[in-house]
Amino acid sequence: MSFISLDKDKAGFWERMTKEEGAVEFRKTPAELKPVSSPDVNPTEPVPNTVADDKRFILGIDLGTSWTSVITSRGTKYRLRSVVGYPKDLIGVKLLGAAFVVGEEAYANRAYLDLRYPLTDGVLRELTDRDLDVARRLLAHVIELAEPGEDDQVCGVIGVPARASASSKALLLNMAHELLDVVIVLSEPFMVAYSEGKLLNSIVVDIGAGTTDICALRGKLPEAEDQATLLKAGNYLDQRIAAQIAEHWPGVQINTNIACDIKEKHAFVMDSDAEVLAELREDGKPVKLDVTDDIRAACESIVPDIVQQLEVLVRSYSPDQQEAVLQNIVLTGGGSRIRNLDTMISEWMKDYGTVKVIRVDDPDFAGCQGGLNLVSELPPKYWGQVGDIVGD
Ligand SMILES: Nc1ncnc2c1ncn2[C@@H]1O[C@H](COP(=O)(O)OP(=O)(O)OP(=O)(O)O)[C@@H](O)[C@H]1O
Ligand SMILES: [Mg+2]
Repeated sequence: MSFISLDKDKAGFWERMTKEEGAVEFRKTPAELKPVSSPDVNPTEPVPNTVADDKRFILGIDLGTSWTSVITSRGTKYRLRSVVGYPKDLIGVKLLGAAFVVGEEAYANRAYLDLRYPLTDGVLRELTDRDLDVARRLLAHVIELAEPGEDDQVCGVIGVPARASASSKALLLNMAHELLDVVIVLSEPFMVAYSEGKLLNSIVVDIGAGTTDICALRGKLPEAEDQATLLKAGNYLDQRIAAQIAEHWPGVQINTNIACDIKEKHAFVMDSDAEVLAELREDGKPVKLDVTDDIRAACESIVPDIVQQLEVLVRSYSPDQQEAVLQNIVLTGGGSRIRNLDTMISEWMKDYGTVKVIRVDDPDFAGCQGGLNLVSELPPKYWGQVGDIVGD
């Protein structure tokens, strides 16, 4: 039996499967796993199962370009902006009363802070020590919010795009290992698919802030070639909405933050009866403007590229699997909340027959929930077989 055909995974499943010696055959032996290209990391080292269950504290972490979501094995769940703010000058230091601030507080005080987002296109920036420092501070804050006990073995399960390079995974592993006892880096679409029970013959479309990642699940760990990445996602929509409104009403003051607020409240496609009235400012004075067509046009602009990539991935399955794949297109990420997006994608693909596009119930937490479930259900000695790992 291959590892990934086990897609009806529930707690206890792994225990049953591993009780009999040799009952589970993994696709790759530890020796075949792709090594992480860092001398500090030994991804094939098994994690000794010597920690009492009540001392093992697992954090499922989705480190996104704009938001970080966390679910812990002790039932806490939280989400914060993936941003660290540093005062721009001495006045900022005085106003903030600190050398830096993380998350919502940084965003709220952005007028006098230099905001740093540690991820670009879903992977860690690796440009300077300052960039790494930003990531370290964000992760340290994320862990602090989980309130681990002193004696806990804290294990972080962190999602990365399926296309993440070995060097960017090694960078993340090493940085996170400074703060966590065990770090497991997993493919993000795989985590979503695990939480949705869609590991086989499905395609996960994750519409985030920086990127839309479209990944084919084939009953094995996805690899770079299974995933297409589009740069049209939430941030692109904010720019596009702002540009459309500025062009439509030249006197109106608009920026991407305001556009993002309007988008998060009203984003939609297709609906011909929709009406979106936005409260904006024209030459400083409040005005209420009908931005329905601007929102619709901007949101619909991401659909053709998504459909094109879906078609490429559907065709990459063997013909006898394509029918199943077309019933299993899964939308996740904040952008999956765009109203009618599921319907529009199936309409655009109607030449393929009935196409079923599903939205996950909780797009903010589907990834970290899947990572937490997988690592909680899988005995530690197998953790290194589903992702890159460091720690003991
Ligand atoms: N109702 C909504 N309609 C449309 N877009 C929304 C809605 N709610 C949130 N978003 C957008 O979703 C994006 C955030 O999604 P998500 O948290 O999945 O991104 P991320 O994981 O931080 O980014 P990435 O996956 O690119 O690293 C933002 O651009 C946000 O404005
Ligand atoms: Mg994301």
